[in-house]
Amino acid sequence: MDPVRYISNRSSGKMGYTIAEAALDAGHDVVLISGPVNLAPPRNTKFISVSTSDEMFEAVHRHARESDICVLCAAVADYKPAKVSPAKIKKRGDRMSLELVTTCDILESLGQQRDRPFLLVGFAAETDQIEKNAWEKLRRKNCDIIVANDARIGMESDENELLILFRNGETKRLSRAPKTFLSRELVKIFLKFATKTFDKKNVMITERT
Ligand code: C5P
Repeated sequence: MDPVRYISNRSSGKMGYTIAEAALDAGHDVVLISGPVNLAPPRNTKFISVSTSDEMFEAVHRHARESDICVLCAAVADYKPAKVSPAKIKKRGDRMSLELVTTCDILESLGQQRDRPFLLVGFAAETDQIEKNAWEKLRRKNCDIIVANDARIGMESDENELLILFRNGETKRLSRAPKTFLSRELVKIFLKFATKTFDKKNVMITERT
């Protein structure tokens, strides 16, 4: 909004960072593109730090086509301030309104690429009708896989409970467990699905959730 304020959300980044770690442990090359979080990036990733959705968009597009699997689990804001004030906004009156405009949807922009050479994985944190909303997201954003969770369970927590939807109509549930464990399972699942169509080695991950 101005030099001292920004709009963010409660996401911690733990899911993205544990997936990056699990992929590294499984022997893959990892590009980790991360917004501001309180986590140390795993060693041996190619780490790219970004502050805004526009910077994340640019970094993801720069690396996507060299990746075999793109995992987009960052909780990117859907809206951003229409303009950023160069000076601190002063308190004036009892009310204030802020005009917001939509951010560019990074996942959807990758989904629109024709003949994309990588497996595309999106995330969906929902508070209601999780499965229905996640299927809708998979189709609208044209992903290969959507990993859905209840936002009230996974947000900021070290644990999560996941519903995985595949574009061929299959589903898989992973019951409540530490994110470190779930991430190792996810990496195996992504790789298995990817190797059905491609020969995969590199993994790109955007953090958060
Ligand atoms: O539509 P929604 O934001 O709930 O979708 C979540 C998925 O979309 C996540 O994979 C998230 O990383 C991605 N996303 C994105 N760019 C945005 C908003 C969400 O890539 N601007």
